[in-house]
Amino acid sequence: MLSDKLKEELNKQLNREIYSAYLYMSMAAYSDANGLPGFSAWFQAQAAEELAHAMKFYNYMSDRGVRVVLEAVPKPTTDYDSPTHVFEETLKHEQYITENINKLYELAVQENDYATQTFLHWFITEQVEEEKSVNQVLDTLRLIGDKGHALVMLDRELGKRGQPAQNA
Ligand code: FEO
Repeated sequence: MLSDKLKEELNKQLNREIYSAYLYMSMAAYSDANGLPGFSAWFQAQAAEELAHAMKFYNYMSDRGVRVVLEAVPKPTTDYDSPTHVFEETLKHEQYITENINKLYELAVQENDYATQTFLHWFITEQVEEEKSVNQVLDTLRLIGDKGHALVMLDRELGKRGQPAQNA
């Protein structure tokens, strides 16, 4: 039986994952409006992944007999200074998510909830990947700057990520 505190924190994380999808859709829209279809495809694929993360929480909670409560989704930022700024904000957001997954894990440990600890292992590993892939793009952006031929090439490269997600 999960404690009320753990139920509440799982539900908050489910809602954070939905917000993550909403944030990345907003970043996709910014990218489209600024002539960067590849960046947009990358963020659309990212948004789809976040919804899949939310559903993992949904299904886990449902399996454990925990009632899912969907909260209002806050309005995400719509404007950014540059493509580099978008990825800086993405990294900050992923670090925030990592922190929350870690706190949730600490709570599951304190409460000796082994099933929740096992469930969260996937997310702990996933967050390492999430931060790594965002950092890689950010490093490239810092090298090439926010315009010119190199940015067009990066846009093409990022667009490749969107293709499998759109066909999935
Ligand atoms: Fe669901 Fe990008 O963390």
